[in-house]
Amino acid sequence: MSRAAAVALILAACAGPDEPGPTGDTFIAFTPAFRGFRGWTSFHSDGPADDGTVSPDALGARTLYIDPVPQSGAAAFPVGTIVIEARETGTQNIFARVKRGGTYNTGGARDWEWFELIEQPDLAIVWRGIGPPNGESYGGDPNACNACHADRCAGNDFTCSPTLSLASF
Ligand code: HEC
Repeated sequence: MSRAAAVALILAACAGPDEPGPTGDTFIAFTPAFRGFRGWTSFHSDGPADDGTVSPDALGARTLYIDPVPQSGAAAFPVGTIVIEARETGTQNIFARVKRGGTYNTGGARDWEWFELIEQPDLAIVWRGIGPPNGESYGGDPNACNACHADRCAGNDFTCSPTLSLASF
């Protein structure tokens, strides 16, 4: 079953077709949920502007992948949304964030779980959680995922890239 179908099933089990799902809905992503992401809706981003607030390690061109694309006018990304950022240069790290819901990560980017992925060439999860484990980072940037995304990007459901502005869908 596809991830979208699984989410739809869960939502259908919890609410009528026209009602939003209850706030307790959760989606816990495992490796199959990320497979085939190179074929999802994607956007090129030149990366954040170098205004001195972002570490050089977090700069640079990347491709953003999203599934599903939010509905026009949505105030937030729905539970089950996966956003992947694949660096096009340097270390070519792949980071992801999944709208897990269920008040996960309440102290940071609420409802979002953080991931690093790797293609070797099969896709695998390097780590997951409310931040990286010791020794891992945002491509070398010493700041926590939550520190940047919750402080600066809360107004767009903790999503920082202007390309993924909710208002643009
Ligand atoms: C130094 C601040 C900073 C830190 C730390 C940081 N991010 Fe980001 N992140 C950004 C910015 C800025 C963007 C938007 C880049 C662009 O313009 O496309 C972004 C974009 C992303 C995206 C693409 C979706 C989005 O939100 O726009 C993912 C996925 C992501 N970051 C994951 C992570 C993960 C995982 C961590 C922790 C390991 C992390 N980030 C830490 C600043 C940061």
